[in-house]
Amino acid sequence: MKATALRGDLLDFTAAPVWGSTALHGVRWRPDHWLLVGADGRIAGALPGDQPPGEDWQRVDHSGHLLLPGFIDTHVHCPQLDVIASYGANLLDWLETYTFPAERRYADPAVAAAGAALFLDALLAHGTTAAVVFPTVHKVSAEALFDAARQRGMRIVTGKVLMDRHAPDGLRDDVAGAEADCEDLIARWHGRGRSSFAVTVRFAATSTEAQLAMAGRLLQRHPGLFMQTHVAENTAEVQWIAALFPQARSYLDVYHRHGLLNERAVLAHGIWLDAADRRLLADTGAQIAFCPSSNLFLGSGLFDWQAAVDAGHRVSLASDVGGGTSLSMTRTLAEAYKVQMLRGTRLSAWTALHTATRGAAEALGLAHEIGHFEPGALADVVAWRWARGPVAAHRDAVACGAVPGLPPQDLHARVFAWLTQADDRNVAASYTAGVLRHAG
Ligand code: GUN
Ligand code: ZN
Repeated sequence: MKATALRGDLLDFTAAPVWGSTALHGVRWRPDHWLLVGADGRIAGALPGDQPPGEDWQRVDHSGHLLLPGFIDTHVHCPQLDVIASYGANLLDWLETYTFPAERRYADPAVAAAGAALFLDALLAHGTTAAVVFPTVHKVSAEALFDAARQRGMRIVTGKVLMDRHAPDGLRDDVAGAEADCEDLIARWHGRGRSSFAVTVRFAATSTEAQLAMAGRLLQRHPGLFMQTHVAENTAEVQWIAALFPQARSYLDVYHRHGLLNERAVLAHGIWLDAADRRLLADTGAQIAFCPSSNLFLGSGLFDWQAAVDAGHRVSLASDVGGGTSLSMTRTLAEAYKVQMLRGTRLSAWTALHTATRGAAEALGLAHEIGHFEPGALADVVAWRWARGPVAAHRDAVACGAVPGLPPQDLHARVFAWLTQADDRNVAASYTAGVLRHAG
């Protein structure tokens, strides 16, 4: 590619903002700047808008748009676009009624390939350039995702789902077959381009002890692998796990006993945890992917982010589509704000945006590559319209002090109003490694 300069209002983070504060700590705001992207697809620096780079730079004018690092969705299910927005069931019913039947289709390579393409194009159209993804139990579904992500230059973390019990015919594997499939996928995809393999335990209920032990062996055998699963999402689920694993201290402890918790472990939900669980997360470096729209939609509960902050464990943000109701990370952040309001805490726009960009990159150990505009990072960049439609445009004008009789508001107020209203219709352009992949 040619070296490219993108003009717009640059917003990224140099450090974590202070929890609960709207102060600008860690916020890097460079209105009307050129973001320089070298021919290698990496960030090369930034220049003020009135000092454009030389003629050898291809210039792309996104003036008046917000340029953010691409969002990182740390927990989302590719095959569940088929069941997004399915009516009236909590977790275990929802899995049986809607999700498992839909996932069976992904045994067919043509379905898996078409599903992966639809899904990754949709992520890009929503401003998400990196994701930690669940495919299905079928090896071909992971293969399809890795290949479709490679074609789009996207950062992906995924792996064949492990489930050898409590799942219908057509959705169960066995320990030896699953291990062989994982080894083959690791050999061919882990560390290739922008792909990493994740040992993907669906949840403790759908794996036997023998399969959980195999998952632990894979992690030991291949340092650098990720691990993804679900934990403590729903009270009925928590009771079921307690009955299945009577020797474990808690649901989280089931994973710990099998060596599955480390600094590259991503556990979705974590609503029904206790203090010892949170300490274990902090000690192992594992992160909880907070999935607010899913938690509301499936009636699962209200994630206690303050307790996570107090315990010092990592938190990222995720759509969890199809339990979640939108691939949009701005909608996800807006739902996170509402959940925290119901818990009596306030989520600032800074903490929300940091968590979905640099914070997620750091929690995943990928901050050398994504999440910010430091020179050397790959240029995963999204240009956002500040407003879509007359109501949002008026609200943005108020924030900017352009409505007579109302004083201008600070940057946090403007960004918060944007975040609360924005969705995929606000996305003007998405780039991965400096290459335009979506224009909206
Ligand atoms: N727990 C086990 N599988 C799933 C899933 O597909 N979605 C959600 N939200 N929770 C799960
Ligand atoms: Zn999930």
